[in-house]
Amino acid sequence: MRKILEAPFMKEMCDATANMYRLGWDERNGGNISYLLYEEDVSPFIDTTKVIRAIPMNFDATELIGKYFLVTGTGKYFKNVEYDAEENLGLIRIAKDGTTAELLWGFADGGRFTSELPAHLMSHMVRLKKDPKHRVVMHSHPTNIVAMTHVHPLDDKNFTRTIWGTCTECIVVFPDGIGVLPWMVCGTNEIGEATAKKMEDYRIVIWAQHGIYGAGKDMDETFGLIETVEKGAELWMKYAALPIVNRISNRQLDNLAKSFGITYRSDFLDL
Ligand code: 13P
Ligand code: ZN
Repeated sequence: MRKILEAPFMKEMCDATANMYRLGWDERNGGNISYLLYEEDVSPFIDTTKVIRAIPMNFDATELIGKYFLVTGTGKYFKNVEYDAEENLGLIRIAKDGTTAELLWGFADGGRFTSELPAHLMSHMVRLKKDPKHRVVMHSHPTNIVAMTHVHPLDDKNFTRTIWGTCTECIVVFPDGIGVLPWMVCGTNEIGEATAKKMEDYRIVIWAQHGIYGAGKDMDETFGLIETVEKGAELWMKYAALPIVNRISNRQLDNLAKSFGITYRSDFLDL
């Protein structure tokens, strides 16, 4: 059996949490990540027949039965993950009843998975139907995105258009746009369901006055999505209150997308 702390997925998780902390996105226990893994990923590192604990989830994830997730723990600090992965992370498998998580490794101090597991697993279910290569759901509290939700209308179209207009790369990185939810109580099945519904159309969902969810096929892609939205939000927060003399027009955004061969949410631009 190889050492799980040396597994590629473990290093990716430690690097992502450390980077997010140092970018100032994930204060205290803010943020959570779930990384979908398959039997062939985990079996060189753990005995998959040995269940440490069964933890009830209180929602139905039947579509994910038998799938493995490396997930951050509730109340755990991103800044600490790289120093003590076994306490701050857990490797779970969705049990045959679809409503229980079997802990196979981690949460060594008796902890449990993030309180946002409903939003994570419900989003995984939706995104897997859109893209069989999908693997990562990431939640974070980037400062400028959260700030922007205090002062910008919260509809998907206008929010997306504003961020697309902040700098050239945005429409290229997330041509599918951004879904925005109004403020809701976090950590509930309800916010999980609302997030997953948005994930039918988008890989990015913003929670007003709270943070952002990103979904992607690997850690880099998902991190890059959030990073690019945060860059756009930071730019907008810097110039929105100033007299604007130049901007990227809708026609220019359309030309850019065409030149990159990208299909985007053209109904979000009034051409
Ligand atoms: P957890 O500590 O339960 O992961 O919650 C952090 C968070 O960001 C809640 O939205
Ligand atoms: Zn949060």
